Amino acid sequence: MAVLVSGEGTNLQAIIDSIDSGYLRETEIDCVVSDRENIGAIERARRRSIPVIIVNRSNMLSILSPIFQKVDLVVLAGFLKILPSELVKLKPVINIHPSLLPLFGGKGMYGLKVHEEVIRSGMKVSGCTIHLVTEDVDGGPIIAQKCVTVESTDNPESLQQKIHPLEHQLLVETIKNFGEKKFVINNKKLIFI
Ligand code: GRF
Repeated sequence: MAVLVSGEGTNLQAIIDSIDSGYLRETEIDCVVSDRENIGAIERARRRSIPVIIVNRSNMLSILSPIFQKVDLVVLAGFLKILPSELVKLKPVINIHPSLLPLFGGKGMYGLKVHEEVIRSGMKVSGCTIHLVTEDVDGGPIIAQKCVTVESTDNPESLQQKIHPLEHQLLVETIKNFGEKKFVINNKKLIFI
């Protein structure tokens, strides 16, 4: 698979650790793609000798098309750029989002902003979602979710800290389920088996 990142890369690390521990079998990260230099995710990839490719908005399509052709799955693990629709159509692309979609998603909803809005809303549960990426930002079919309780003492930072480890679990479980064909992605539609 290819893993696309823009930040600290703890979700990338969870995938690497699951491959190394044998939880994810017959799985390899062909490359890590980033739209930023000097981020934790790149450091994590290099430490594991995974090739790193840096892209920007203008060269994304030409650089990523041949890469997407080669892999079975593309994972957006905190990637902040919107992928051109030509790329999204090429292969199954999944994204991890730190809220219970369809709530608190869409353009501009990333990082602490998501958790600030959850606290502001008064909701008593939040969580994370893995969904299929379509042209609709954060709007593709939902593959899996995990929930946490929002306590009255929570603030955006504490909520983020609660949800982050759940993201790691949900992401590796979903990649495993994909590899074991517990669901298949056909023409941007999900079929659970
Ligand atoms: C995660 O919260 C993920 O849900 C969101 O971006 C963040 C990436 O975190 N899409 P990390 O770089 O994997 O630590």
